[in-house]
This record gives sequence, C-alpha cells and structure tokens, in this order.
Amino acid sequence: MSQLVDQFGRQIRYVRLSVTDRCDLRCFYCMPRGFRDFEEPEHWLTFDEIERVIRAFTELGTRMVRLTGGEPLVRKGLPGLAARLAALPRLDDLSLSTNATRLARHAEELKQAGVGRINVSLDTLRPERFRDITGGKLEKVLDGLMAARDAGLAPVKINMVVMKGINDDEVEDMVAFCLEHGFTLRFIETMPVGDTGREAADHYVPLDEIRQRLAEHYRLIPAHMPGGGPARYEQIEGTDLRLGFITPMSRHFCDTCNRVRLSVDGTLYMCLGQEHSYPLRPLLRSGCSDGELRQALREAIDLKPRKHEFNERPEQVIRFMSMTGG
Ligand SMILES: C[S@@+](CC[C@H](N)C(=O)[O-])C[C@H]1O[C@@H](n2cnc3c(N)ncnc32)[C@H](O)[C@@H]1O
Ligand code: SF4
Repeated sequence: MSQLVDQFGRQIRYVRLSVTDRCDLRCFYCMPRGFRDFEEPEHWLTFDEIERVIRAFTELGTRMVRLTGGEPLVRKGLPGLAARLAALPRLDDLSLSTNATRLARHAEELKQAGVGRINVSLDTLRPERFRDITGGKLEKVLDGLMAARDAGLAPVKINMVVMKGINDDEVEDMVAFCLEHGFTLRFIETMPVGDTGREAADHYVPLDEIRQRLAEHYRLIPAHMPGGGPARYEQIEGTDLRLGFITPMSRHFCDTCNRVRLSVDGTLYMCLGQEHSYPLRPLLRSGCSDGELRQALREAIDLKPRKHEFNERPEQVIRFMSMTGG
C-alpha cells in the first residue's frame, strides 16, 4: 500500500494523539486559568474510533504514536487504550507525554500496556513556583516521576519550557536533579500558540543562551537519542545525562517534520503552528469503509504546509496547545 508522503516529500511516520483537551493543571503558557470551554463528550473520538484511525495510519507507514493531551491520564481507561494501540502489528513505538500528576497511580499499568518512552513536563523544582506556573502541587509530579522510573518506563525525559524571569535561574538545578535520578532533560523554547502562548512569549529565551551557560560549567559532547524527534542532543561528558534542545523559534526543524496531530474531536492538524486541518469525525461516523478512511488520510496529508510561521505570523494559531496536543 502506498505510504503517506506530503507535497514536500516528507513521509508521515508519527502521530501525536490527543486523547482529551482537559487537564488537571493550568500551565499559564498553555491554558488560561479558569478555562472550562472543553470539547463535548459526544464529540470525543471513542477508543474504537481512535484504534481504527491509528490502524489506518499504520497501514500507510506510520510507526510511532505519542499519547498526549491536555493531560492524557485524565481520560478514563487510558491504559486500556494504550494496550489496544500497542497491540497493532505495525506500530513500533508507543509513548506518552504527561504532567505526571496521576502517574504514581498508573505507571505500572502503562508499562504493562506497552508504553515505552515517557515525557514529563516539569518547569521548576520549587513548590511555590510550581504552583504559580501550573496551579498544582509539585509533590504529586515528583511521586509520579519516581513511580515511572521504578516501573521501568524508559527513558524518562523531562521537558522544561525555559522562560526568562520565570524559571531560567533553575536550569543548573534541573541538570543536577536529572543527573541524580537518571532522567534525560530537554529544554523547550516558548511558542506563541494561543493567547496564553503569546503572553508567555514575553519570556522567550533562545536556547543557544542556555547552552552557552551550561557549556561554562560542563563539557558538552554530541549525543544521539533514539526517537529523539526534533531535539538536538548533547551529553555531559563523563555522565549518562543527555540534554535535548528543542528550538522551534530560533532554529526550526520543519524540513524533517514527519508528524501530524489528531485532536480528541477527530480533527487532524497538519502543523502545530498553522491552522491546516481535516475533520475525520464526520467521516468515521458516516460508516465509511477502510479504503475511504485511508483515502481521507492521504487527502489530509496533501494539506500539510511547508513550515510553521511562529516568527513571521505569531498571531496565526488561535487554539491552545492543550487542544492540539503538544
Ligand atoms: C500541551 S502538553 C500535553 C501533555 C501533558 N499535559 C504535558 O504537560 O506534558 C505537551 C507539551 O507542550 C508544552 N507546551 C504547552 N504550551 C506551550 C507553549 N506555549 N510553548 C512551548 N511549549 C508548550 C508543555 O510544556 C508540554 O511539554
Ligand atoms: S502543558 Fe500539559 S499540564 Fe500544562 S496545562 Fe497544558 S496540557 Fe496541562
């Protein structure tokens, strides 16, 4: 069967699957405090529908799925969905992005279900600052992280959105924390996604600055990370600690973008930084055949734009990150 290749020759190998737009935190750069305008439950793709779409993707060459959200562990029965997806014969890699507040309860179950790699958002190690940034409790996240490590979910990668005047003074502390616990650390540049992201853009720091600062304390050597995606990795010499730099703003990686995003309402988004999308839910609920579904995926991929325009048109994306699935 032909593969999913877009107009610019990029093959789609990776789906980011947002299983909910809800979240138990309110990171200020992602979702507004008090926000409640969520998708209606009758619009959520069911687990049967999700499995069907992902199966169709795998028949067209997709090999990796990342469960995300909103907070994916807020969706009831997520480990069950993970097990169903992990059992798809052509899927090689099932991973999860989470804020870890509920991970202590679910880590073991997720491991059993077939989830491998796991990314945890953590921007600060200071409880009060954590509350300011997210509205939640740091302790739960730390418990979740340790549970993930103990359950053998590996590697555990920590994603830190680095923001000037908010948490950029904690980069060295985060390095020490990850060294101590054997986590990988990835730094992310703030993106102008939704009004929240645009407000946070005032705190934008180009990651070259952070890298230079770290290079004053540590010797950094190039490193490779399987499934590393858009991050550029370096390693602190003499340690196992890998540092990833994700630079959508200062150095974009659109030329090698191999992913699309499926939101909980069944909309397929072609790019995090553009509005190009394709609604799959009406088709799924109209009793389409598998062939029609695959044809729809091909049509959707034809819409994938060449690149994001975060720098040229920062006002472009009105939806919040929690809706698309970061
Ligand atoms: C939308 S969250 C969804 C998964 C999960 N709730 C979590 O926090 O990991 C995925 C990632 O998007 C990142 N993110 C959200 N808004 C962002 C923004 N405006 N700029 C950069 N990263 C952002 C978060 O820090 C997180 O690492
Ligand atoms: S970044 Fe993740 S944890 Fe934070 S509000 Fe967005 S979806 Fe929730």
